[in-house]
Amino acid sequence: MNLKQYITEVKDWPKAGVNFKDITTIMDNGAAYKYATDQIVEYAKEKHVDIVVGPEARGFIIGCPVAYAMNIGFAPVRKKGKLPREVISYEYDLEYGSNVLTMHKDAIKPGQRVLITDDLLATGGTIEATIKLVESLGGIVAGIAFIIDLKYLNGMEKLKGYDVISLVAYEAE
Ligand code: PRP
Ligand code: MG
Repeated sequence: MNLKQYITEVKDWPKAGVNFKDITTIMDNGAAYKYATDQIVEYAKEKHVDIVVGPEARGFIIGCPVAYAMNIGFAPVRKKGKLPREVISYEYDLEYGSNVLTMHKDAIKPGQRVLITDDLLATGGTIEATIKLVESLGGIVAGIAFIIDLKYLNGMEKLKGYDVISLVAYEAE
């Protein structure tokens, strides 16, 4: 299946000059959503992962069906103030300002092999923060899976040394 044909490009959204990649047209197509999920499941099986971790919100859309298909758990990464129990936090810079991501302290057991999922790799800031959270809980990042890699934003630079797959690449905006 050519997954790219199920991604809708939306010009000048959310602001002028951005060519937004909309994955909701993968999700609302049962065959395409299943295909994307199955590709990541195959990858995750090779990596012998124990648990899936994804950042809100779109990381949940990718990671939860993978966890379900593999009969393993899913641990959410959420913005500050959203998780009810004791958390660890990681702050990272955005183009304007900063963002704080959190995880429950007991979400990962030391030594667990973790698959990190998200819909899209752009600058890599979100996934770099997710890696820091997983590793500070003692998890081993066994693999990282995206639907989309926006290659022209060079997010992969931040993921050097990690095993990463993406199902669809865009070389230019
Ligand atoms: C988008 C996307 C990735 C992130 C990629 O999430 O879902 O998580 O940006 O960008 P980066 O590689 O530069 O960090 P967004 O923060 O828009 O939130 P959402 O998933 O809740 O829609
Ligand atoms: Mg996101």
